[in-house]
Amino acid sequence: MSAYDLQHSPCMLQETLQLLDPQPGETLIDMTCGLGGHAVAILEKTADNGPAILIDWDPAMLEAARQRLQQHLPRVQTFTSNFAELPQIMQQAGLQWADLAVLDAGVARPQLVDPERGFGFEGSRLDMRMSEQVGPSAHEIINTASESQLRQILRLTQTPRESRAIASAISRARSRQAIASSAELAEIITEATFRRKRPTRRQPASAMLAFRIYVNRELDHLQAGVEAMARALRPGSGRMVVLTYHSLEFRIVRQTLEKLARGHDAPPWLPDPPDACPIIVSLLDKPLKPSQSEAPTCRSVRLFAARSIECENRAVYGPGSQ
Ligand SMILES: C[S@@+](CC[C@H](N)C(=O)[O-])C[C@H]1O[C@@H](n2cnc3c(N)ncnc32)[C@H](O)[C@@H]1O
Repeated sequence: MSAYDLQHSPCMLQETLQLLDPQPGETLIDMTCGLGGHAVAILEKTADNGPAILIDWDPAMLEAARQRLQQHLPRVQTFTSNFAELPQIMQQAGLQWADLAVLDAGVARPQLVDPERGFGFEGSRLDMRMSEQVGPSAHEIINTASESQLRQILRLTQTPRESRAIASAISRARSRQAIASSAELAEIITEATFRRKRPTRRQPASAMLAFRIYVNRELDHLQAGVEAMARALRPGSGRMVVLTYHSLEFRIVRQTLEKLARGHDAPPWLPDPPDACPIIVSLLDKPLKPSQSEAPTCRSVRLFAARSIECENRAVYGPGSQ
């Protein structure tokens, strides 16, 4: 059995279904199809004729999802694309509005456990690209970026002191021999952050996360994707859910949704400009946390939900904009 055939329980599925409240015939956009866990559950509610666009930039994930989506395939269009390109995808699909949209950020478990992808601590390669559409791999960055560039990347998740220590350890290690696998990288990070006075070995996870985010430009894409999905919702009735897994994703999504709910980019303490155009309203007082019964891999999730509202000045995507 390959990693992509794993049994799969999507995070916070019940909460997602409750907030989206899918109805028969409604149109779905799944920005991060993954293994199709959220998509299948939503498609069951929008049966028999609710169309869907399912996006994932990793072809291996979409291929695996297709097996699970068998019975719904006639009303589904899949796109091996970056979700930040949603406006172009909707044009191509001939879709003007969506009633439902979901974005479940980050990586999927099969990607994490596949040693060839190099996301985990035991990876045999050092790649970390979620898609061939993204630029240089972790191998290229770790082995060729200057020490100060490595430090800057690490600052995404590490303190200045940790960033300095890790960047310098990487620089020393690669001067002897190129760093070839994520297992080697994890070992270098662990050694670099080993503190003699307090002998606790920090997990290398957060430093590895910094490289993963940088390689895939995850935060830029997330911001563009969340804005695009909000603008794609049918005015006045569309609903969206976004699941984030760590504080950097959380902050980007919160800021993006707040901006769209205010309808302008100006600082929140200034009066609203006359052409402010709020396009969503939050469905929650604060982001939801998972219940105790969720899988350990879902414990860090924070869920955002919003509903679309009418605004005359809104940009229109899809065929309606031509
Ligand atoms: C947490 S998984 C989604 C799991 C899915 N909800 C399910 O139930 O199976 C995240 C997925 O998003 C995809 N992904 C991450 N960033 C993306 C981007 N910018 N564009 C398209 N897909 C992306 C990853 O390849 C991964 O398959």
